[in-house]
Amino acid sequence: AKLHEHEFVVQATPTKRLCSTHNAITVNGQYPGPTLEVNNGDTLIIKVTNKAQYNLTIHWHGVRQIRTGWADGPEFVTQCPIRPGESYTYRFTIQGQEGTLWWHAHSSWLRATVYGALIIRPREGEAYPFPKPKRESVVLLGEWWDANPIDVVREATRTGAAPNVSDAYTINGHPGDLYKCSSQDTVIVPIDSGETNLLRVINAALNQPLFFTVANHQLTVVGADASYLKPFTTKVIMLGPGQTTDVLITGDQPPSRYYMAARAYQSAQNAGFDNTTTTAILQYKSAPCPAKGASIKPVMPLLPAYNDTNTVTAFSRSFRSPRKVEVPTEIDDSLFYTLGLGLNNCPPNFGPSQCQGPNGTRFAASMNNVSFVLPNNISILQAHHHGIPGVFTTDFPANPPVKFDYTGNVSRSLWQPIQGTKAYKLKFGSRVQVVLQDTSIVTPENHPIHLHGYDFYIVAEGFGNFDPKKDTSKFNLVDPPLRNTVAVPVNGWAVIRFVADNPGVWIMHCHLDVHITWGLATVFVVENGFGALEAIESPPEDLPLC
Ligand code: C2O
Repeated sequence: AKLHEHEFVVQATPTKRLCSTHNAITVNGQYPGPTLEVNNGDTLIIKVTNKAQYNLTIHWHGVRQIRTGWADGPEFVTQCPIRPGESYTYRFTIQGQEGTLWWHAHSSWLRATVYGALIIRPREGEAYPFPKPKRESVVLLGEWWDANPIDVVREATRTGAAPNVSDAYTINGHPGDLYKCSSQDTVIVPIDSGETNLLRVINAALNQPLFFTVANHQLTVVGADASYLKPFTTKVIMLGPGQTTDVLITGDQPPSRYYMAARAYQSAQNAGFDNTTTTAILQYKSAPCPAKGASIKPVMPLLPAYNDTNTVTAFSRSFRSPRKVEVPTEIDDSLFYTLGLGLNNCPPNFGPSQCQGPNGTRFAASMNNVSFVLPNNISILQAHHHGIPGVFTTDFPANPPVKFDYTGNVSRSLWQPIQGTKAYKLKFGSRVQVVLQDTSIVTPENHPIHLHGYDFYIVAEGFGNFDPKKDTSKFNLVDPPLRNTVAVPVNGWAVIRFVADNPGVWIMHCHLDVHITWGLATVFVVENGFGALEAIESPPEDLPLC
């Protein structure tokens, strides 16, 4: 196994997008940031130096961080932020994961521009479980704001209203040529006739589930979230923010130029095939040269409608592990978590300008009606590790406070979550099941729920209210997919299972950043086991102080 040492310098860098130049926060001057390429079993040492004017942390999304929770990165969960002018070195080893992950800032909305790919290839001398691709390309889907994203979220937090939406979707940081002033920077992905290429597609968008497709080409899905899948072919894939999907694409079409494109799923305002579609160009190397001054117009794909949940369902139901896997069958901790938005009444000391949500309220979001509040002077992991009281409580409810029709009319009391820094405690080795149930509080949505520190099996998904009597018998306990982020169906539910074998403090949250901002998060505190290899390592000496 190899050791990879990197330095990330995070700083403001003039960046031209759409029709003007903005001071975007970048890593080493790059947006998106550098791609990290490693093999399973390798160790990464990344020194992050904060030369920006904001507090910062970096999260290695999907890396299990076995016993190295201090390197996980979510601000105030596993570490205090790296202050401007300071540095912190993340050290961790890839253990048993192969495929595509990514890294991103985990502090306020900095990840709008501070993100990049993490490619994990098989161990030296080992092969992919599919024919070796001729070429590999990273396809990072994102969102671009003309305004400073930190100002956007600060303004929303001040007013209680929904934040402004982004100005463009992007592929590898570029909106592509359907957007104004963007055509000259459209990303080109090369392919040649007969070649099979691997596309590593990552949804790094802040707040938007996205469909992705390539005109006239089939996509063969071979992995997701750095776990292999039983291959299947599809025209279109959907990724919730945080998710990755590895697809093979073969150059079996007439040599030419074809658009690859991404567009919103589940967003009422993006209903047409227009400039809310981001594009890159799949270009055959043998494509005929256009006459001087002319250009060959790429072939446009068809994308599903923004509300095409049927396509999403068919896609996610195709996911299988390549072979029989070991899913926990006996369950020690059986949890039922509701996912919901909310509207809090205007607090008495707030003025009307601070309560600009619907009818003078403030937007909120919650799990089991608890809106998660981060500590602000220490991380939860530090408090847990050193036994410092008063930072969090361990009374996160295993079930919602009242049972109700999650997809129907909801009593007004449930629109107002309580606030708290509540954790759920798990014994080392506990076998855990979580039912994640969407609710129609304010509005039903497809929530991409991401768990840090673990991969989990998605044993079932469905619509309506989860019913243990009739739904449990449909669980796939043979070959369910292993992921770190599950797109919980709109007006539906998903059931995940994992074994709590990684001690530490792990946040589970909706990967729509607007929902984390509003509190759609919780943490698991996983206790140490009794052996030395079942305990979290000691905190590193340079762990930032608050
Ligand atoms: Cu990709 Cu908690 O994040």
